Amino acid sequence: MSDKTEFSDRMLSLGLARVSEAAAIACAKLIGRGDEKAADQAAVDAMRRELNKLDIKGVVVIGEGERDEAPMLYIGEEVGTGTGPAVDIALDPLEGTTLTAKDMPNALAVIAMGPRGSMLHAPDVYMDKLAIGPGHRRGVVTLDMSPSARVSALASAKGCSTTDITVCVLDRPRHEEMIRELRQTGAAIRLITDGDVAGVMHCAEPAKTGIDMYMGSGGAPEGVLAAAALKCMGGQIFGKLLFRNEDEKARARKAGITNFDRVYTRDDLVTGDVIFAATGVTDGSLLPGIRREVGFVTAETVLMRSKTGSVRHMSYRHPVG
Ligand code: FBP
Repeated sequence: MSDKTEFSDRMLSLGLARVSEAAAIACAKLIGRGDEKAADQAAVDAMRRELNKLDIKGVVVIGEGERDEAPMLYIGEEVGTGTGPAVDIALDPLEGTTLTAKDMPNALAVIAMGPRGSMLHAPDVYMDKLAIGPGHRRGVVTLDMSPSARVSALASAKGCSTTDITVCVLDRPRHEEMIRELRQTGAAIRLITDGDVAGVMHCAEPAKTGIDMYMGSGGAPEGVLAAAALKCMGGQIFGKLLFRNEDEKARARKAGITNFDRVYTRDDLVTGDVIFAATGVTDGSLLPGIRREVGFVTAETVLMRSKTGSVRHMSYRHPVG
């Protein structure tokens, strides 16, 4: 018989899918209603409620923020029934609050779980990110290459022209120069308004999503979640924390980070085996969003385990009053 306190990813994975499903379903009536806060709150409440039913000694390491700014699912909050394996949890109950409020594509409820100490405790600062899908030599593209050199390197690795590469980038003024340089290569750019966990995940399935590479800065917590997804799906991600002031450095120190120039690889961001679940909130190229019909809601979830590389798509129909 297996030790009850061991991290049994196989057994826990269905429970994890229920957690992301609950968060996504809780937003159903708030999709397209212009109220980011209400949608986020509904997702947070539902995710926390469902998480607390799992037989785990869980600690939120990537969550809604520091304890003084987030009353629920804050960094360091203990979750679960308190019996079972000691696990770390990275979560974003609603990744894409504005996408949800405006009913725009690719809002997700996401959660990852691994044994204690398996994920970087990333502070809430920006991270410079670069990601590509599976099947390439490690380091074929790197953060220290220029944006155009990354496109050329990936194009040669794929045996195609730079004009056949599509790069996903968050549409932000801070990325204008990078976008200008990428345009010079002839590459296509898919600009997204939010949601870079989904942005990175798109790289793992280029045939389905049409995205070959993700680059640019976004939230560091989202970088860890994206690394957890790629650890299961395959693919590479590199991330470097970006600090705008001393306060942000202090946040990093508090999280145990001392080397501020370090480039983290996927396996530095997520060091152990993890399970990952994402449920579609709004329709997207990875997952369909929540469907509402009289008496029911339907949620589509992708549930993945890094140990086996298994990727399971699940459809859940739930009766509603
Ligand atoms: P929400 O917190 O509203 O869900 O937004 C998420 C997000 O778009 C992330 O996907 C991304 O990493 C980050 O915000 C980008 O931050 P900023 O909006 O400051 O550029």
